[in-house]
Amino acid sequence: MAASNILLFGGSGKVARHITRQLASAGYTVHSIIRKAEQSASIEALGGKPVVQSIEDSSVDDMAKLMKASNTQAVIWSAGAGAGNPDRTRAVDRDGAIRSMDAAAKAGVKRYIMVSAIDVRDREARPVPEWYDDSDKERSDRVWKAIGPYMDAKLAADRSLVAENGRRGLEWTIVRPTTLSEDAGVGKIEAGKVRTTEKISREDVAAVVAECLKRDGTKGMAIDCVGGSTPIADAIARAVEEKADAFEGRY
Ligand SMILES: NC(=O)c1ccc[n+]([C@@H]2O[C@H](COP(=O)([O-])OP(=O)(O)OC[C@H]3O[C@@H](n4cnc5c(N)ncnc54)[C@H](OP(=O)(O)O)[C@@H]3O)[C@@H](O)[C@H]2O)c1
Repeated sequence: MAASNILLFGGSGKVARHITRQLASAGYTVHSIIRKAEQSASIEALGGKPVVQSIEDSSVDDMAKLMKASNTQAVIWSAGAGAGNPDRTRAVDRDGAIRSMDAAAKAGVKRYIMVSAIDVRDREARPVPEWYDDSDKERSDRVWKAIGPYMDAKLAADRSLVAENGRRGLEWTIVRPTTLSEDAGVGKIEAGKVRTTEKISREDVAAVVAECLKRDGTKGMAIDCVGGSTPIADAIARAVEEKADAFEGRY
């Protein structure tokens, strides 16, 4: 049976709110983890079930208990502390995310979808993606120079999700959007081994997450997504068919 009971970390975030609204209206139950009680009413208005619990203060056991109590069938991670405070970024985007993976394994939850970022990769030891052109390389240099600790935290979390899955046995997918916009979703993107520079709206990223949840072929794949002109379901189907995993061999 497809997962219908979701635990969403970072529930009050901008992408997460779109995820909550889209999944709730499609019939999923979305348990939305937030850290401020005053955010609860707005999550309920989207159709989510708010759970007030700070990620930084939650152990693996705390998270696993939450998953068991809410009968979680799939975890979605869309939390992040931003790039302004590297210590908090490491505490949330790296350590909190890794604890949530361990918690999923402990609670017996298989499906795990991570919202990460495009161009998260080991730039020291691995080659530049061969499909990058000069503008992608320029973007990569600029982003890593500006927010290196944030990218490193994402890399550590994503590497753990993929490389340490032998002990967890999760059915993971990593969704890797490029720079996000607040524009309304258009339902069209490009996905897979794509050029990195075309912004994508948060609403469309949420639709990519929803599509991955439905599509078993995305299990075990990291999928880059950017603005484009291909309907989301088609773009994801093509990335799956072509096994276009932009993280493979780069961590
Ligand atoms: N900005 C970009 O261009 C970009 C590009 C690619 C990928 N991403 C990634 O995409 C994801 C979603 O982005 P977004 O725009 O939706 O980010 P966002 O609006 O900043 O959402 C992140 C959420 O994480 C929550 N959070 C942080 N620390 C927490 C804690 N200790 N306990 C519980 N929740 C906590 C925040 O809660 P509060 O509301 O309480 O602060 C916030 O609501 C993030 O992981 C981001 O790094 C961003």
